[in-house]
Amino acid sequence: MNSKVRTAVIPAAGLGTRFLPATKAQAKEMLTVVDRPSIQWVVEEAVAAGIDDILIITSPSKKGVEDHFDRIAELEQLLEEKGKHDQLAEVRRITDLATFHFTRQGTPLGLGHAVGMAARHVGDKPFAVLLPDELMPDGGATLRRMIDVTETTGESCISLYEVDGPDISNYGVAGYSERDGDLVTIDQLVEKPAYEDAPSNLKVTGRYIFTPDIFAKLDKTEPGRGGEIQLTDAMAMLIGDPGMRGLVIKEAGYDAGQKLDWLRANIELSLDDPELGAGVAEMITSIARTRGLT
Ligand code: G1P
Repeated sequence: MNSKVRTAVIPAAGLGTRFLPATKAQAKEMLTVVDRPSIQWVVEEAVAAGIDDILIITSPSKKGVEDHFDRIAELEQLLEEKGKHDQLAEVRRITDLATFHFTRQGTPLGLGHAVGMAARHVGDKPFAVLLPDELMPDGGATLRRMIDVTETTGESCISLYEVDGPDISNYGVAGYSERDGDLVTIDQLVEKPAYEDAPSNLKVTGRYIFTPDIFAKLDKTEPGRGGEIQLTDAMAMLIGDPGMRGLVIKEAGYDAGQKLDWLRANIELSLDDPELGAGVAEMITSIARTRGLT
């Protein structure tokens, strides 16, 4: 097996119903976080982890996603003519981040089906899957560690996060047989179990490094929860054949597909932004003072 992870698959075909009305006529992946669409954060995370080939699985309503990573000749020409060199460089940088490929999931048959569509593109190499609702602005550190685990063990590796209470049943959940620091050997995977049936408090967070074995498992996966082909069900078949590892992360990142967490992402990431941070801090303090919140 050629072990270098160069390709990331980003399933972006979902409807974004959790974020209506913003997503009525606009892809949820195009909602702005600070100064760029949320999917650009995800692409930049993958690129920071050494990935240079990106396959985005889209659906008919996602044209904006494809356009965002394409060249827009008219815009570039206009910026050139007006001498706006910094903006021109920024616009071109987006296209140059990686090689982009797009394929459409014609029918919404589930996350597992979307990932299965990447089989021919990926071939026989390990690859990453990043769910674009989840933002993990850590400069690619988590993904790099997971790639390292897969490269050293030859097994797939997913990121996991500890969740308190019944919220766990909104996620894929991993049970494990062994734990060594932040690494676990997974022995159970269940998609959105009832709280009482959850095998642990470790939720699947939307970052996956798969060996190509996942494709044969996806081929065998029957529709599961919600009548959809679930990625988690295919992952469960990888347990022991050849094996599934988990990396327990300490920072959850943001769920940018959910209104409150999207707002938190905007506030925290703009505070971290070198150009905007000071102004945003001042603004928040002033709002809190004016409203009597402090
Ligand atoms: C998907 C996965 C689930 C995972 C979650 C992370 O669920 O099926 O296993 O825990 O993403 O966000 P969805 O959010 O699409 O319902």
